[in-house]
Amino acid sequence: MDYKVKDLSLAEKGHRLIEWAEHHMPVLMTIREEFEKTKPFRGMVVGACLHVTKETAVLVKTLMAGGAIVALCASNPLSTQDEVAAALAELGVHVFAWRGMSAREYYEAIGYVMGYEPDVTLDDGADLVTTLHKASMGISSEEVKYALAAYGQRELPIDKVIGGTEETTTGVLRLRAMERDGVLRYPIIAVNNAHTKYLFDNRYGTAQSTFDGILRATNVLIAGKRVVVAGYGWCGRGIAMRAKGLGARVIVTEVDPLKALEAVMDGFEVMPMIKAAEIGDIFITATGDINVIRREHFLRMKDGAILANAGHFNVEISLSDLESLSKAKREIRPNVTEYVLKNGKRLYLLSEGRLVNLVAAEGHPSEVMDLSFSNQALSVKYLVEHRGSLKPMVHNVPAEIDERVALLKLKAMGIEIDELTEEQRKYLSTWLMGT
Ligand code: ADE
Repeated sequence: MDYKVKDLSLAEKGHRLIEWAEHHMPVLMTIREEFEKTKPFRGMVVGACLHVTKETAVLVKTLMAGGAIVALCASNPLSTQDEVAAALAELGVHVFAWRGMSAREYYEAIGYVMGYEPDVTLDDGADLVTTLHKASMGISSEEVKYALAAYGQRELPIDKVIGGTEETTTGVLRLRAMERDGVLRYPIIAVNNAHTKYLFDNRYGTAQSTFDGILRATNVLIAGKRVVVAGYGWCGRGIAMRAKGLGARVIVTEVDPLKALEAVMDGFEVMPMIKAAEIGDIFITATGDINVIRREHFLRMKDGAILANAGHFNVEISLSDLESLSKAKREIRPNVTEYVLKNGKRLYLLSEGRLVNLVAAEGHPSEVMDLSFSNQALSVKYLVEHRGSLKPMVHNVPAEIDERVALLKLKAMGIEIDELTEEQRKYLSTWLMGT
């Protein structure tokens, strides 16, 4: 099968969206020009499991400009932009993604991508790499069965893989667990951990796109509301900062004492979720962990509270608890489900508890994905150039890539910076000179 998308006639609209993103991703476009000349991926297959957005399309086109054949599936069943998927199919990408895929279809799509026998894998959340590893280790689960059925009866291609990249915090945590258990079969570059990724994408990207999603879904006023942010990692920090900027009274919940202290010193109220539950108007989870908002919290919430998740998986708000506490449920507007609890209170869940920024809005803005995906593109090139010499571990993005991406972005923004003088360089590198 070459591709599977919702509607190929959407392609024209998709091309225009991609063009718009290209205008706002100057660093990746510079890298594309370089790849067009040097063709670092000639004849290689890149298998990608990413949110199928206009920004991802710019990355995919860049890899293709470098000579790659790309097979792409979605990293979330609800985040695919169908116009973009159609445009990519028209460009010859083996894309298997549409908004609203079932769990079975989601894993079948991963199986189709595996079927192209990738030389390099790209993940956002590690579903492709974990499915490939589970299948090759004979670990059986519903998901693996769906993927293998789609893949067919051939030998699994895991030995062919040179390496992979991972886009997000949740995926890196899963990969580190694989490394610890000694099962990781090929090197993976943790793109998430580049400075030019997490300091910008996780903080400014998640913050803006999360509010974009909440506002598109609800159109409620943020000023004056009590916004409860669960988790004060880079995403939570950004969300809390933007909530404050919009005039909200912000509460942070944390389990890590250092992050909790930082939140206090940043000027936020910090308290356990059980207390925040009673006073919050809007709850936003960004922890990467399960059941952060659960039964005992729902029971204490005010009538009308809004629940949104900005973490990778739909596990942070306990959907099973919400269902079991409710006597009725209906869609009140797109991306807003009203749950009427047996105690009579109404809670509003956005985007089925999945990433609100990608489901109710368009994900991070192109300008920020320019940084993240430039790291992706250069990391793929690094993996190809270092094939066979990297251990099957989680690797950091090389510092030269990180620095190059920052410099290219500054240049694209027309911003110049100072350089160290020879005297200053010397001062920084010696212990002999003092005050
Ligand atoms: N993750 C968050 N925002 C994204 C976007 N716009 N494209 C791809 N992945 C994303």
